[in-house]
Amino acid sequence: AFAEETPHWRPAVRFAPARNWINDPNGLVFFEGEYHLFCQHNPHGDQWGNMSWAHAVSPDLVRWEELPVALEPDELGDIYSGSAVVDHHDTSGFFGGQPGLVAIYTSAGESQQQSIAYSTDRGRTWTKHADNPVIPNPGIEDFRDPKVFWHGGTGRWVLLIAAGDRIQIYGSANLRDWELLSEFGAEHGSHGGVWECPDLFELPVDGDPARTRWVLIVSINPGGPAGGSATQYFTGDFDGTRFTSDGSPEEVRWVDRGADFYAPQSFSDVPDGRRLWLGWTSNWNYADKIPTDPWRGMMSTPRQLSLATGAGGGLLLVQQPVGELAGVRANRRAWSGPLTEGGGVEFRGSAVDVVARFQLGAASAVGVDVFAGPGGRTRVGYDAAAGELFVDRTRSGRAQVSAEFPARHRTPLVVEGEAVELRVIADRSCVEVFADGGRAVLTDLVFPDEGSDRISAFAEGAGAHVELEVFDLAP
Ligand code: FRU
Repeated sequence: AFAEETPHWRPAVRFAPARNWINDPNGLVFFEGEYHLFCQHNPHGDQWGNMSWAHAVSPDLVRWEELPVALEPDELGDIYSGSAVVDHHDTSGFFGGQPGLVAIYTSAGESQQQSIAYSTDRGRTWTKHADNPVIPNPGIEDFRDPKVFWHGGTGRWVLLIAAGDRIQIYGSANLRDWELLSEFGAEHGSHGGVWECPDLFELPVDGDPARTRWVLIVSINPGGPAGGSATQYFTGDFDGTRFTSDGSPEEVRWVDRGADFYAPQSFSDVPDGRRLWLGWTSNWNYADKIPTDPWRGMMSTPRQLSLATGAGGGLLLVQQPVGELAGVRANRRAWSGPLTEGGGVEFRGSAVDVVARFQLGAASAVGVDVFAGPGGRTRVGYDAAAGELFVDRTRSGRAQVSAEFPARHRTPLVVEGEAVELRVIADRSCVEVFADGGRAVLTDLVFPDEGSDRISAFAEGAGAHVELEVFDLAP
């Protein structure tokens, strides 16, 4: 542990545990008026180990209340990542005809196998199934992270699992007996690291509910574009048995090219049909060295997902912070005017939602500095020559977390004409940037010096103009 606690790094609008280690989100589900967030957790220390499921609930995805640990290690091993579903029609037989929650997770002991547990009291207590594992290890070393959903077309449960260098897809009528249906991916995408934490869901294309496509999510570690952990996606078709990719086998697409958005998982059963997800805001490259105390690890802002047709005709995954975030905006401040190289007006805040609309003029770069103070700043912007959105955390305060931490991360950003709009969620120890309507996204941890809370727009070169809006995030 560290000598002093670090309250100035505790996020305002996302889940972080009161104490100790967390990693991947698990079991994200909406049930009876509450969003549930479970996650990988060490209840006994601030390093990875004793893997259990921590638990939190929220009415609105913004305010989280931590509850007691939900699942702890047993004779089958640690409790690794997995998912949860609402068994509306008691297909499992656990609920006496009522709806209930079923968690599906990896038991990590001598081998990795899949187990289930159920709750009859809105997730407060859990009973492990007597006949675990429900999917024994088939002789594959890395065999984990089951994600389950109900497939209406075939009237059965579908489970995805990371199985070595591929995703396996299983089917079941009752969540207890599983049959292997198909495999995907040995020849597709990036294989720079082990495949983990799959997800699969259907989304409308360009907002048209009559035109849908499926999105397969695969996290990979290492091999990400910013080093270490990252998440790739494939678009295609799913017929209830098999996933077919639209793209060529070589195609690799990342959901977020920042360093700190890993193992995202989508929520089951969101009442209004939105597809929402959140990820772990960290990276296996240095997760064990994050200087927060007495907790280590936090989640991203929940994001709404959609699909849009990109410039080349292919489909792009689009992410936007959930609408609920606007409900905790407070203290609006705004300024608009020309940007000279000396900079413009400054605002203050360390948990803020910033919207910056630029006209580029002849500037070669425009953007926003957040967490600025004597010890540095985090720079977020658009580099016109490179055609890239970037986050620069080389001088962001405590940047010596590890050798690779001080870095500038980037992703292509398509700008039509002169207008560049950035949405920056800067929340005490992380920045999330959304541009081009959520087609370009970067998430990075930063550890600003205490009191480094200045926010301003900048331009490099002449003729840029900005409309800047800053809101406090005040749940
Ligand atoms: C991903 C991961 C999962 C595993 C869990 C263990 O970050 O490695 O594959 O289930 O973490 O904590």
